[in-house]
Amino acid sequence: MATHAAFMPGEAAAAPSGLWSWITTVDHKRIGILYGTSAFIFFLVGGIEALIMRLQLAAPDNTLVGAQRFNELFTMHGTTMVFLAIMPMSAAFFNYMIRSRSARGTWPSPGSTPSPTGSSSPAPCSCT
Ligand code: HEM
Repeated sequence: MATHAAFMPGEAAAAPSGLWSWITTVDHKRIGILYGTSAFIFFLVGGIEALIMRLQLAAPDNTLVGAQRFNELFTMHGTTMVFLAIMPMSAAFFNYMIRSRSARGTWPSPGSTPSPTGSSSPAPCSCT
């Protein structure tokens, strides 16, 4: 898939800017930042859900939320934290770092042979 438009010599590429450049980005570092930002927002949402549960449990026979609503908060807090905060946060780090490290050959990957100098050379293909 082509990710760069062809330009005539001397013609400046009109790079998208602002919000649109973030929505349409194919830059792995920016995608990592987007993952991290949304994970942090959901971490706050999960925290608010935990806070409401804590307030309900702070006093006996509290009536802040009913039993049904408490169960919903319990489910949504766990789901929010695990699937919308912790897992995307790991994706944030993977997207931000892995491509640049493997391209430099400082991390092992199927296409590169790590070396102490950081240079990478393609591994000999053993396929037939
Ligand atoms: C990595 C994921 C999670 C994080 C970071 C997290 C974080 C927190 C925090 C900071 C509190 C407030 C603690 C307090 O008020 O004493 C809390 C409360 C709570 N969490 Fe989580 N949580 C996570 C996953 C889960 C899961 C998977 C469940 C259950 C399915 C769960 C159930 C609860 C419940 C029931 C409370 C209220 C307990 C209480 O306040 O006495 N949490 N959580």
